[in-house]
Order: sequence, then C-alpha cells, then structure tokens
Amino acid sequence: MSTGQDFETLPRVWLVEIRRLASDERLTQGTPPGWYAFSASPASPDLATELEGNEKYYVDYISMVAEENGEAVVSASVIPMRQNVRGHVVPLAGLAGVASMPHVRRRGLVRQVLNELLGQVRDSGFVVSAQYPFRPSFYDRFGYVGVPKARIARFNPADLTYLQRAELPGEVTWGPMGEGYDDYRALALEILPRRHGFSVLPDSRDVYARDKNVKWLATARVDGKVVGAVAYTITGHGGTLQADDLLFTTPLGRALLLQFLARHTDQVGEVSVRIAPDEHPELWATDLAVRVETDVTYPVGPAPMARVLSMEGLRGMAVGSGHVSVEIVDDPYIAGKYVLDGTSGALDITTGGDPTVTLNAAGFSGLVYGVLDPADVGLRGFGHVPTDSAPELAGLFPRQVPYFFARF
Ligand SMILES: CC(C)(COP(=O)(O)OP(=O)(O)OC[C@H]1O[C@@H](n2cnc3c(N)ncnc32)[C@H](O)[C@@H]1OP(=O)(O)O)[C@@H](O)C(=O)NCCC(=O)NCCS
Repeated sequence: MSTGQDFETLPRVWLVEIRRLASDERLTQGTPPGWYAFSASPASPDLATELEGNEKYYVDYISMVAEENGEAVVSASVIPMRQNVRGHVVPLAGLAGVASMPHVRRRGLVRQVLNELLGQVRDSGFVVSAQYPFRPSFYDRFGYVGVPKARIARFNPADLTYLQRAELPGEVTWGPMGEGYDDYRALALEILPRRHGFSVLPDSRDVYARDKNVKWLATARVDGKVVGAVAYTITGHGGTLQADDLLFTTPLGRALLLQFLARHTDQVGEVSVRIAPDEHPELWATDLAVRVETDVTYPVGPAPMARVLSMEGLRGMAVGSGHVSVEIVDDPYIAGKYVLDGTSGALDITTGGDPTVTLNAAGFSGLVYGVLDPADVGLRGFGHVPTDSAPELAGLFPRQVPYFFARF
C-alpha cells in the first residue's frame, strides 16, 4: 500500500514547455529569470514600475522561455537589428537577456531554448547573430566567435590646442540628446552601409537614448549636412568628459568634433572617447599624448561575439577573388558542403563540391567577419585548413576589422 512517505520519495516529474512569447506576455512571463539574473535583488517595488515603463522599447524583441509547470524558468530574446557584413547589410539577431533560474541551471534548458530561438529566427530571415557574452566559452558551443571590442582613447584636451582656433569650414551644434536624436540616428543609418561590422538597433529600442535624454550631443555639420556626432557626459569640473562613439563620415567631421572636445581644455582634465578598433588617435594631431585601451572583462565588459546563421543570406557579399570548397560541420544551422566563389567580387555559394577544408560555425564565422586568418582556424580548434587551400581562403575572405557600434 502506498503511503505519504513513499510519495515524497518518488522522483518529481517536471513538465517543461519551450515556447515563443506573444509581445503582451513578455513582461509577466519573459522577465522573471532576467530580473533575477541581471538586477540587484530582492527587487525594490520601483523596479517593477521601471520595467513596465521600459516595455515599449522591447516591443520588437523576439522572446522565448522554458516554462516548468507553467512558470518561466529560462528566458532569452533576440533584438531584430541590422549589420553590415563586408558591405552587405543583413538582419542581425542580437541575442540578449539569456538567463535561467538557479534551481534549473546546468540541466541543458538554456541550450534547448537558444537552439530553438536561433533556429526560428534563422528560418525567418536573420543572417547573422551577435551578443556580448558573460563568458565566451559558453557561446563557443553555439558557434559564435570573438570579434574586437571598440577602443577607448584618453587624452588631455589641452593637447589639441592647435585645433581650438583653427578655421574649419563647418560648425558644431550642441544640446541634449533628446533634441538632436533624429540627426544622430540618421547619421548612424548613413554609416551602416559604409562600415564593416557596424550594427544598429531597431527604431523601437534605439529611441530609449532620446527618451532617457541623459547625454549631451555634439553634432558636426558642413553646409547644413551632418558629418559627425558624439554623445557624452561630464563628470564635473576638472573631471572627465566621457564620450560614446566618435561617429563621422568624413575627416572634416572628425576634426570638427575634436575641435569641440578641445574647447573643453581647463574645464576637464581628460577626454575619454570610444573609437573603432582600427582608429589611430595618435595620428589625429602633432603632440597629442594619448592612451588607447580596451579592457575585456567577464561577466561585465566583454568583447562581442558573432556568428553566421544563414549561408543563403551571405550571397552577394563583397569578397576577394578566391574559389574554394568547404565543409561546415557540427552545426544545426549552416552545416553542409559548399562551393564558395568570389571571382566576380560578390560571393556566390552553391551546395556540394568535394571539400578538403573543414570548418565549424565559429571558424567559418571568423573568416566571414574578417577576424581570423585561415592559419588561425586549426590553431584555435575551429577546423582544418590544408596548407594549399589557405591562400585561396585568405583571398576570398581578406582580414577586415569589424566595428560593432550598437551595444545592447
Ligand atoms: C549562464 C546561464 C544562462 C547558464 O544556464 P544553464 O541553465 O546552466 O545552461 P545549460 O544547462 O543549458 O548549459 C548549456 C551549456 O553551457 C555550459 N555552461 C553553463 N554555464 C557555463 C559557464 N559558466 N561557462 C562555460 N560553459 C557553461 C553547460 O555545461 C552546457 O554545456 P553542454 O551543453 O556542452 O553540456 C545561467 O547560469 C545564468 O542565468 N547565469 C546568470 C545570467 C547570465 O550570466 N546570463 C548570460 C548573459 S550573456
């Protein structure tokens, strides 16, 4: 006869359902694992109000949860972004808010949710995915490869004195981000098709910066056209002017912004400004003493990671003139045999071939993003590139430094 005691010792049966949330369910079902993982807790009542108020910035997010007995225990979202990959602007799945409740960790639920989420967004047309990892080895398993983090340049604005009185054929206007936001957004969208790796958030999420309105914005114009902009805050008199990315479309745009920063001499002791990883501030001016740094830390302060989700979506991307067959292995989204041809200058892909090159998703993604040399592939454990195929592959995917702009 069964007793209460026997019942207690029976293994518990967990009913897990993985499903995509409707947008009106996000706040109630999608946020609890994220709240617990990313906020100070126990949460103050203000946090609930704040999250509710911010929900309008997340309307376009694609969110997936694992529910156990009806309660969300894992959540993950994709932000529908756009990114320039070798001159080709494609839909980018920005992975965010990946979290599981502590009592279900290390049971493989996050792996299942991410596989389902990435599979669904790949099927709906997303070509690449990127995220800021808490620990890259976790995302290695999902085919992501590391890409460079933007640099920070630090200098004393007094070193740019020569620029203070220079007559430059343009002007800089200054004001709160809330007022200048439209021009700032338009500038980012203008840079998008021009710069490898440049990525932008969807409109619904991007306007957060306008609505929060907690930064100054300096906007450079020539003949009325915006040629540069930088958002910033100032810590105090004698302190630091902390600037976000120095965005510009022309050298004159950059010079106008640097002149504006130079005019903070004696007001602040230091300017810190975020720059593309291949920008060289030591070339900005004679006698400029500058420190360029990047500080990669985990779980906060990571360098981004990215991967290819769809081979089809890469067709037409600007590449070098190589012709090579590759086999991509161990991946749910892009595994297969392909012939990659760049003789026209635009990537053509056909399936099949008789490849001697073997790559996993991270190895292939590293070549596409321009951050790996074929010789790195074997050294990093991302596949095997025979010596005679390496020059073809390097010719097809020349090294290029991607500049990931949008942070999320
Ligand atoms: C990170 C986190 C989401 C992992 O959740 P989890 O439930 O343990 O994940 P899973 O059980 O599905 O593990 C998936 C894989 O990652 C591995 N993994 C888990 N944590 C890891 C870690 N810290 N470092 C490296 N690998 C890890 C697992 O071993 C497993 O590998 P396998 O499939 O080869 O066995 C969870 O610990 C968490 O919510 N942390 C706090 C929030 C956070 O940091 N989120 C990440 C934001 S980028």
